[in-house]
Amino acid sequence: MNYTFSDNKAVLVCKGLERNYQLGPEKLKILRGVDLNVVEGERLAIMGASGAGKTTLLNLLGALDEPDAGEVWIAGTKVNGLSESARADLRNRALGFVFQFHHLLPEFSALENVAMPLWLRGQSRKQAAEQAKAVLDRVGMSARFEHKPAELSGGERQRVAIARALAGEPRVLLMDEPTGNLDRDNAKRVIDLIEQLNQQTGSALVVVTHDQEIANHMDRQLQLTEGRLQSS
Ligand SMILES: Nc1ncnc2c1ncn2[C@@H]1O[C@H](COP(=O)(O)OP(=O)(O)OP(=O)(O)O)[C@@H](O)[C@H]1O
Ligand SMILES: [Mg+2]
Repeated sequence: MNYTFSDNKAVLVCKGLERNYQLGPEKLKILRGVDLNVVEGERLAIMGASGAGKTTLLNLLGALDEPDAGEVWIAGTKVNGLSESARADLRNRALGFVFQFHHLLPEFSALENVAMPLWLRGQSRKQAAEQAKAVLDRVGMSARFEHKPAELSGGERQRVAIARALAGEPRVLLMDEPTGNLDRDNAKRVIDLIEQLNQQTGSALVVVTHDQEIANHMDRQLQLTEGRLQSS
């Protein structure tokens, strides 16, 4: 099996993914064989009950965790068996990740939070700052460059987190409940923004959400039920 960008335009693929958690004597089988194929520019919603394993799946698709069985391919590269540093490099090169809780670094400004993945890629401070400013501008945050996360509203923090995920122009943007802790108006703004950026950059989107209205905006909806993904 060799999925590459050029032969079938798949940017994110998984096959037979399984993930168990050992809790004392009990083995929790959370993912029981998940298959997924996301193509270039596609917008996919993943839904499912709380505890169904959505975050667990996203962490595997984002090369942040290792499966008990199955394979993950990101932008044509097989993740299984890569060293931790090779996985970090792949994440930095091909993926953007917006976590369920924003995960911004508290001691750094909005600008530094967005510029950080670019520094890690080896860009100069100046170049990274320019690019970070441009992305923050696109998410409507140009008046808040110097604010630290604690000095931002919930919706603003989420927009900074999205800017950070987008700064490296990822092939795939993975988002875990990007509007979960936002009010209706801010949630709508974030979704409009994500849609706009998807159209402008062609990044594929995988959005975990409980919100049917958001899911309706995507090209395809899948349900995570009993450890497998099913069309809904
Ligand atoms: N490190 C862990 N050790 C043991 N069990 C875990 C661990 N992480 C998650 N779980 C369990 O696995 C199940 C799936 O968790 P996960 O966070 O993937 O759910 P989710 O679908 O994202 O839920 P939510 O919609 O509430 O965010 C849950 O029942 C959770 O308690
Ligand atoms: Mg979750």
